[in-house]
Amino acid sequence: MKNLLFFACLLLPLGMHAQQEEQRINDLLSKMTLEEKIGQMNQLSYDRSGDLDAGIRSGQIGSLLNIVDPAEVNRLQAIAVKESRLGIPLIIGRDVIHGFKTIFPIPIGQAAAFNPGIVEEGAAIAAAEARSMGVHWTFAPMLDISRDPRWGRLAEGLGEDPYLASVLGSAMVRGFQGKNLSDNTSIAACIKHFVAYGAAEGGRDYNSTNIPPYLMRNVYLPPFKAAVEAGAATLMTSFNDNDGIPASGNTFLLRNVLRDEWKFDGFVVSDWASITEMIAHGFCADPKEAAMKATNAGVDMEMVSRSYIRNLPALIKEGKVSVQTVDEAVRNILRIKFRLGLFDHPYVDVAKPSVLYAEAHLKAAQKAAEESVVLLKNTGVLPLNNTVKTIALIGPMADAPHDQLGTWVFDGEKARTITPLAALQQQYGQQVKINYEKGVAYSRDNNTSGIAAAVKAAQSADVVVAVVGEEAILSGEAHSLAAWELKGAQKQLIAELKKTGKPLVIIVIAGRPLAIQHELDAADAMLYSFHPGTMGGPALAGILFGKVAPSGKLPMTFPKEMGQIPMYYNHNNTGRPFRGNETMIDDIPLEAAQTSLGNSSYYLDAGAAPLFPFGFGLSYSTFDYTNLRLDKTTLKQGETLTATVTLKNTGSYEATEVAQLYIRDLVGSIARPVKELKGFKRVALKAGESAEVSFTLHTDDLAFYGIDMKEVAEPGAFKLWIGGDSNTKLETGFTLE
Ligand code: NOJ
Repeated sequence: MKNLLFFACLLLPLGMHAQQEEQRINDLLSKMTLEEKIGQMNQLSYDRSGDLDAGIRSGQIGSLLNIVDPAEVNRLQAIAVKESRLGIPLIIGRDVIHGFKTIFPIPIGQAAAFNPGIVEEGAAIAAAEARSMGVHWTFAPMLDISRDPRWGRLAEGLGEDPYLASVLGSAMVRGFQGKNLSDNTSIAACIKHFVAYGAAEGGRDYNSTNIPPYLMRNVYLPPFKAAVEAGAATLMTSFNDNDGIPASGNTFLLRNVLRDEWKFDGFVVSDWASITEMIAHGFCADPKEAAMKATNAGVDMEMVSRSYIRNLPALIKEGKVSVQTVDEAVRNILRIKFRLGLFDHPYVDVAKPSVLYAEAHLKAAQKAAEESVVLLKNTGVLPLNNTVKTIALIGPMADAPHDQLGTWVFDGEKARTITPLAALQQQYGQQVKINYEKGVAYSRDNNTSGIAAAVKAAQSADVVVAVVGEEAILSGEAHSLAAWELKGAQKQLIAELKKTGKPLVIIVIAGRPLAIQHELDAADAMLYSFHPGTMGGPALAGILFGKVAPSGKLPMTFPKEMGQIPMYYNHNNTGRPFRGNETMIDDIPLEAAQTSLGNSSYYLDAGAAPLFPFGFGLSYSTFDYTNLRLDKTTLKQGETLTATVTLKNTGSYEATEVAQLYIRDLVGSIARPVKELKGFKRVALKAGESAEVSFTLHTDDLAFYGIDMKEVAEPGAFKLWIGGDSNTKLETGFTLE
């Protein structure tokens, strides 16, 4: 009883705070006209030519996006606060996706670091920089699971795995929002795109998705649920229709799941014109119907397409949208404006010393870039040692300050980027000669006239470092690709460099998994760097010379062939799983009699394995996993289990390994994936050092949405693995009673 009282006292201030917050909202709401309420639901893009001032003054605009001039933000905010009838401040949004000025690796690169700490820190830095320029709200993190390298937007996401995306997405939310949204270093997060957008058919952006209910619950929704639990302030609907229902009109997901089940109390914003785009979807006849369906479905704020401001007054009059529905939407929006402290501190402090590109920010961006680089092959040429006197640095991405920043960079400046060329010259220019030749001018360039000079540079070097890949604009929104080989004359460039016989290190800088099989065969070593941001150059230079050992792991499966897509590690088993001894295309005799050959699920010409599995990444060192053990082999509902493994650095470099724990639920009320990531840890070890690495699993971690569409851990046998990638064979098992 005493204990209960103690906890009740602890909770009281919190509860009171929430009550006071609701009281303030209700007071304000009771003074608002219907037009003012609808105005809060209207977000416009900043545009100097439009008459924004009048709209703000009359309470017709609740939010602006795409404005980053603090003086102009303050001027407009002053109109909202001092000249509008109720003085409700604007909320200013901006796509701060992987940094504001200091650009971190693109999110898929951050995911490769398997480090929630660095993701949280990166988001906190982005928030501090952005808020100092008058931004209150970012449209990130993007939590769309994607299993398709054709889809350009996977660059903005956290990979193919719902657990990884949940852990990292929550870290990003915490980073952006800080301890308190009202701090002048915090901004509101916006989890997007709700939902299944990453499963666009054929990887074509904006396309339909067809995710059935169990898959939705077990794969596509979990990162959103986790981010809501982490306190995400806002959520954005997606462009796609899922099974015929456009996301901005999906009442079940927005009301039943998000509000009723998950108790989300922030606000929902549409994506850019995604409400009126429901007309093109054939789901609504006109903007009025679109406004009605979106409001009723639970989209609180409309981004730019003005169907609310134009149609809600009439829809309410006609009884097609209730005042109560509008009140609820406005309440959600005001709640976040209060939490951001905008009523008390509406202005940005322009006199504050700048935090943009602060030394600590650049350092953190470099660390993130270092951790995000994945070593895919190394015959021993890396790290470069002191026998290397001349490096031929070749390729269109070796000195591409704009492109190494990656997609969704509005505010970061290429003038602040440090490229691999600049970093190598600065840091190692005294000890080695660097002969730089582009070979081809940019990633899509078909002009081969520069290849001869590149070959000449290679011939007189001790080692060739070729930096190839994709320009920033080839990934991101609306940048899907149907062919994923290296573009332009880059393949020819690599082939010619190979002919020189010099040791060849290939660095790929890209926004997605690319077809790299040929280049991998040609390379003595290959590093894969998703667009690494402002400090990508120093990060890569340090890795080349062994100042840091690579530790990134692939957050997506790398297929061998595009025809294998979708390919992901956590698939269900088939009734005829691949065995490994199947007939391959070259084994088939001429005029073969009709046969179903291997009787299993695979490609005659590509087998069933990917090029690299999820979680894969080498190091300069080597690691051994032994002695996998559990503290119990049966557990009851509500209990926890501890799995421990001995991890030894068996190589000769100090290095960090990402230890990964996977499980398989052998029999379920619906078919279960062959493997599921349930834990990961970065472990730093000196050469020869060992550590006991433990993971704790609660039975809740085993839960999934089964046949009754309830989230339960079903009794039965489980397998458990710990290792350095999803292909690990070190296995044990346990039973849930
Ligand atoms: C459209 C994109 O889909 C979304 O992610 C972004 O936040 C908005 N535009 C605003 O720029």
